Amino acid sequence: MPTLRLGILASGNGSNLQAILDAIGAGTLDAKVKIVIANVPGAKALERAATAGVVTALMPHQKYPDRTSFDAALSQTLEAAGAEWVVLAGFMRVLSPGFIARHHRRILNIHPALLPSFPGAHAQAQALAYGAKISGCTVHFVDEGVDCGPIIAQRAVPVETDDSVASLSARILREEHQLYVQVLRWLAADRVHWNSDSDSTRPKISIEPA
Ligand code: GRF
Repeated sequence: MPTLRLGILASGNGSNLQAILDAIGAGTLDAKVKIVIANVPGAKALERAATAGVVTALMPHQKYPDRTSFDAALSQTLEAAGAEWVVLAGFMRVLSPGFIARHHRRILNIHPALLPSFPGAHAQAQALAYGAKISGCTVHFVDEGVDCGPIIAQRAVPVETDDSVASLSARILREEHQLYVQVLRWLAADRVHWNSDSDSTRPKISIEPA
């Protein structure tokens, strides 16, 4: 099986990126991070990538006239670096339909809630405000909607009575780090399959047993 060639897009801290880099470094994930691209100057993700010896690019979206041209530049940079999979790791930009078509079925995202509950940028705060007793994280393929592509895997965590957004986020993040790496291992082993059934227009993902 060929090594997964990853392009990682981030806007901030990059702790999920770090988990992926650590797994590759430990030899437990057969992948190579070909490039890390951030759209926010000073994003810690860039520093983490550079420390690991990974190629980085800073591409502030404000420097492009519109979303389509920013996304086209992103695609060019990813492809020039040899990335085959686009891994969103805290990338706070919605991607255009053109970008999604160009990387068909090869874009992954991680979201800090059990989708379809609490999509969007404030998932942990919304879970707390709603009074949810269980939350968690979801890794999914990216389609043209926001946080609504086919689900690959989820993990649950309890929401405690005295949780703050920070404490709940930290509990979820610990699971995110394991889940993202797990999904990438499945992809590396070609165990992630798209299925469609005649009763539903929504494709489902299945994981082939090892
Ligand atoms: C994570 O909670 C992820 O689910 C969300 O953005 C956050 C990124 O965290 N999409 P980090 O930058 O990987 O630390």
